[in-house]
Amino acid sequence: MRQAYGLKILNANHQDVRRLKREGHQAELHGNKFWNSSFLIMDHLKRHPLKKNSRVLEIGCGWGLLGIYCAKTFGCRVTGIDADPNVFPYLQLHAEKNGVTMAGEKKSFQQLDQRYLSNFDVILGADICYWDEMTGLLMNLIARARRAGVQQVMISDPCRPPFTDLAERCDKKYDGVLLVEKFLKRPVNASGEILIV
Ligand SMILES: C[S@@+](CC[C@H](N)C(=O)[O-])C[C@H]1O[C@@H](n2cnc3c(N)ncnc32)[C@H](O)[C@@H]1O
Repeated sequence: MRQAYGLKILNANHQDVRRLKREGHQAELHGNKFWNSSFLIMDHLKRHPLKKNSRVLEIGCGWGLLGIYCAKTFGCRVTGIDADPNVFPYLQLHAEKNGVTMAGEKKSFQQLDQRYLSNFDVILGADICYWDEMTGLLMNLIARARRAGVQQVMISDPCRPPFTDLAERCDKKYDGVLLVEKFLKRPVNASGEILIV
């Protein structure tokens, strides 16, 4: 187990992680581990904290550590959605280890309609734009989120081409889009950008 940004993060060989794998929870859409781009948003939020009780939705949450960070650090009310239900036992394990609650729901980006999204103030996602088709899905999701009154959407990535396309398309379409560059040395070497719409 390692500690970063005040979080306990289990390694792949931790006995509880190994037990969940043995029980058959094998993630299939790359949600099989915790990805570093979450650290980029955590680092940004350290300097730009969320309001207590903000309603946060983490999309493509995987193990949910970004959402858990928001619950633990800022007292946000957090839900994570992921298309792969196998990630949720790992999310709940980490929520428990970190002493917070986070709801998990099996939903795809496409299934998040305007009505559902109106329950949230902030949407976060890390490492969720890695296949070409994800650019269009996330463009549409951002449009629905804005219509639903969501105040901010933040998506981080090590700058793969589908993410760069997403950032360019958002910049053309919306006012006030920010692209924050991040280079971290600690807790790991990680670099990339955060798209803030
Ligand atoms: C690379 S992992 C990142 C997981 C987590 N955000 C992190 O940083 O550790 C991508 C996650 O997005 C989920 N995902 C992929 N396509 C999705 C879709 N269309 N709708 C919802 N979740 C999706 C995958 O199941 C996986 O958990």
